Amino acid sequence: MEHNLEQSMYDFAIKYANQAGRLIMERMENKGVIDYKKNGSDLVTEVDKLSEELIRSHIQRDYPGHWILSEEDCGQENAYQAFLKTDSGYGWIIDPIDGTTNFVHGIPHFAVSIGIVKDGEPVIGVVFNPMTAELFTARKSKGAYWNGQPIYVGKEATLAEAVLATGFQANEWHQGSRVLKQIDQLAGKSRNVRMFGASSLDLCLIASGKLTGFWHEGLNPWDTAAGVLILTEAGGIVSDKDGKPYRLFHDSLVASNRIVHDEFLTAIKLLKVGES
Ligand code: IPD
Ligand code: CA
Ligand code: CA
Repeated sequence: MEHNLEQSMYDFAIKYANQAGRLIMERMENKGVIDYKKNGSDLVTEVDKLSEELIRSHIQRDYPGHWILSEEDCGQENAYQAFLKTDSGYGWIIDPIDGTTNFVHGIPHFAVSIGIVKDGEPVIGVVFNPMTAELFTARKSKGAYWNGQPIYVGKEATLAEAVLATGFQANEWHQGSRVLKQIDQLAGKSRNVRMFGASSLDLCLIASGKLTGFWHEGLNPWDTAAGVLILTEAGGIVSDKDGKPYRLFHDSLVASNRIVHDEFLTAIKLLKVGES
């Protein structure tokens, strides 16, 4: 019964991630009004809202008992509080465009992200990049897939072999100096550090063995709900910056191929190996 329900939700999430992706592609040259949320670098477009409405309205129609947490929803604050308090039953966590700044500037790296949680635990993750037609999917205990093919994290054994990525909230630049110190530290210890601008895809890049690790502070559940399941199902690990298992409301996220995780955590804390 539960199996059939989750199978239908999985198919549904893929179907509407694709439909939202199509809508986004149709509006690449006509993004409509570009608005600012909290400051001049936190963008939202008409297309974010249309993509969100498309997915939300169909969930409400087909799964009326499920809660929804989505980024651009006008009731966002309330939904977020409800998520933190109730967090029970099935819930859908949606980022209608993850990587809006890339979308606005025509950089082909953004995605529709749909994560489904059950009693607070991610059970389904779907991330679709409409520009490259790459679909990343996972179900709890059933593995992770790229366009239907199984994917696995990479085998890099040390940070010296690793390619890493990070990012920071545009409206939280006060954290910038710490991120810059971390980049300084990690760029010297790894093959290099990237900043791609779409966290859901960063997690999928680790899941498919391309990137080795990713760290970020201040992400929201819609940035991570789908990607963390895809990554863990591909053999990776996600923790907070203290190494505790990552929860969707945690402020810090450190993700990797698992093998380099301890070394990565140590370096992020700006410590030398052996210090704690
Ligand atoms: C952003 C992206 C970016 C991250 C930002 C997020 P948005 O999401 O995930 O990688 O660095 O913190 O806000 O606003 O494009 O959906
Ligand atoms: Ca996002
Ligand atoms: Ca977004």
